[in-house]
Amino acid sequence: MNKNSKIAALSLLLAALPASASDNCVTVEHLGTNNTLVRVNSDSPLLILPVQESVDDAAVRLLVDGKYERTFYIRLAKSKVDYTVPVDISKYAGHDVVLNVLTSQNRSSVREAKDDVCWSNIRLNDSFDSSNREKYRPAYHHTPLWGWMNDPNGMYYDNGTWHLYYQWNPYGSKWQNMTWGHSTTKDLINWEHHPAAIEPQAMGSIFSGSAVMDKNNTAGFGSDAVVAMYTTADASQTQSIAHSHDGGMTFELYPGNPVITLETEARDPKMFYNDKTGEWNMTLAHALDHEMLFFSSKDLKNWTLNGSFGKVAAQGGVWECPDLFELAMPDGSSKWVLICNLNPGGPFGGSGVQYFTGDFDGKTFTSDLDANGNVPTKWLDFGKDNYALVSWYNAPDNRRTALGWMSNWQYAADVPTMQFRSANTLPRDLSLFTDTEGMVRVASAPAPEVEALRGSLVKKSGSASISKKGRTYALPADNDGICEICLSLDSPSTNVDITLSNPQGEKVVLTYNATDRTLSFDRTQSGRTDFSLDFPAVTVAPTFESNGKVSLRMFIDRSSIEVFANGGRSCMTNLVFPSQPYTSLRLATAKGSARLNSLEIYNINAE
Ligand code: FRU
Repeated sequence: MNKNSKIAALSLLLAALPASASDNCVTVEHLGTNNTLVRVNSDSPLLILPVQESVDDAAVRLLVDGKYERTFYIRLAKSKVDYTVPVDISKYAGHDVVLNVLTSQNRSSVREAKDDVCWSNIRLNDSFDSSNREKYRPAYHHTPLWGWMNDPNGMYYDNGTWHLYYQWNPYGSKWQNMTWGHSTTKDLINWEHHPAAIEPQAMGSIFSGSAVMDKNNTAGFGSDAVVAMYTTADASQTQSIAHSHDGGMTFELYPGNPVITLETEARDPKMFYNDKTGEWNMTLAHALDHEMLFFSSKDLKNWTLNGSFGKVAAQGGVWECPDLFELAMPDGSSKWVLICNLNPGGPFGGSGVQYFTGDFDGKTFTSDLDANGNVPTKWLDFGKDNYALVSWYNAPDNRRTALGWMSNWQYAADVPTMQFRSANTLPRDLSLFTDTEGMVRVASAPAPEVEALRGSLVKKSGSASISKKGRTYALPADNDGICEICLSLDSPSTNVDITLSNPQGEKVVLTYNATDRTLSFDRTQSGRTDFSLDFPAVTVAPTFESNGKVSLRMFIDRSSIEVFANGGRSCMTNLVFPSQPYTSLRLATAKGSARLNSLEIYNINAE
C-alpha cells in the first residue's frame, strides 16, 4: 500500500470521529515514586502518548468514570521521545478518562517517575499523522500504520473484500498487548486500515486464529455472523470465539469462552467448513509437542478432538500457526496440504514454513512419504523472512491465496525501523506440482492482482550472451528502492551471479549454481546487518526447473526482496536494509557463457 493511500485511509478513519477542539486538557498527578495519574478532560478522540524504545514498559490502567476498563503496556518516554502512538478514546467521549500509570521499578531512587519527559509530551488530538518518515517502510506491501505486527490472522474473503487481521501492538514497535489489527483490500494491493477488531480482555491477550462466515447459522449467532476463533493467552492458552455482525469490523465475545482448554500450550486455531463431512474442522498447534491437533464441530462452539499429526520432520522449535486445505493436482485429483509453521528450526535458522502433502479424512491427516518411506521435510519458502503464513478462507474461484509475516523471530524486534515494525509478504496463490523425484510440492506464485502494480517498462532485453565480463543494467533511479525484475535464462551449465548493488558497495548476490541447480541469496553485504548476528545470511533454494529454463521474478520494496523462481515452484523472501536503494543489476558467469533469454525491469506504481 502506498504512503498517500495510507494517510487517506487514516483520515477516513478519523473523519468518523467527532471533530472537537484539540485543547491539551491533560492533568498529571504524581502519586508516588512510580505511580502517576493522568486525567483527561476533553472530548478529543485521540490521546497521543510518547514512546522511548529503550525503556521498560509502564503498565497503564485505563479508568472510565472511575471504573476499571483495561490495562495496556507501553514504553512511556523517560529521557527522549522516539515516536508517539495514538490511543483511541473516542468511545469515552463525555466520560471521565483517567490513566493510572505504574512506571517500571528499575530507576535509581533519586530519579522518580515525575522527572520523565513523557508527562509534558502527552497530547490530545483529532488526528494522528502516520505519514512515513522511515526509508525502510515498504511502498507496496501491507504494513500496520504504526506499531508492531506479527502473524496474519482471521483472513477471510467476502463479497469482493479480502479481510486481513494481524497480531498487533498498537502501543509501540515491539511484541506486546496482542490485539487483532484489521485491514481490508479489494485488489490485494491497496489496503484500507480499520480500528482494532479484537482487543486484549480479562481472559488474556488475543493471539493468532482464524475467521469463517457462518452462512447457515450453525452457531446460532445469526446467518450474517463472521465467527472468529483465537487463542486467549495469559497464564494458560485457551481457545475463544467471537462473532461480528458488521462485516468483521467489531466482534462480540461469546460468554461461554473458552471453548477449548488443553493442559499444555495450544494455539492458533484455523477453521474451515468441510463440504465432504458437513462439519466444521479446526487445526490447532500443540506447540511444544510438535504436533497439530484436528477438531470437528457442528456449531463452532462444541469441539471434538479427533486426531493429531506430528512428532515428525522438522521439530527444532515450537509448531505454530497451522493451516489445512485441499488443492487440485494437475491431473484433476487432489491432495491435502498441512502447513506447520515452525520456530526456531527453520531452514536457515529461526522461523520457517514447513508443510506436508497427503490426505485428510475429516479426522486425521496422513502424510505422503519419500522414496525411503519417511515423512519428508518440505519448506514453502527458502528465505529467512516468511513466517506464520496462512491462507484466506473462502477465496474466490477456488483460489488458495495466502500471505506470511515478512520477518523472523530471531531479529524481528531489532530490525532498523522505528514507528512501525514488519510488513507482510505479497499475497501468493498456492498450487501443487510434482518434482523430478516424483514428490508433490506446493508452489507459491504472486497473486495475479500483483501485476497491476507494474508501471513503465524501464528496461527490456531480448536474447543475449552473458560472460565472465558481465552485463550491467540500471535499476530505475527515481523509484526510491522499488521495482520488479523478470528474467529468464536457459538452464545454465555454469554458475551465474545476479547482483543488485548500490554506489556504497552494498550488494545482494543471487548465485545460480549449475551443479546443484540451486539459487542462493547472499545478504551478508546487503547494507545494515549489524543489528543482529542472525541477520547476515546466505539462503539457498532448489530451483525445481522443468523445461530447461530458469525464470525469475523479483520484487524489491525498499527493505525486502521476494524472488519467485519458475512460476513460484521455488521462492525466497529476504529482508535487506541498504543504506541507499540498489541502483544496478549485474549478470555475470563464473566462467564460460550463459544465455539470457529475456530481461524486463518495471517501475512499480505505488505512490
Ligand atoms: C507465531 C506466534 C503464534 C502466537 C502469536 C503471538 O508467530 O507465536 O503462535 O499466536 O505469535 O503473537
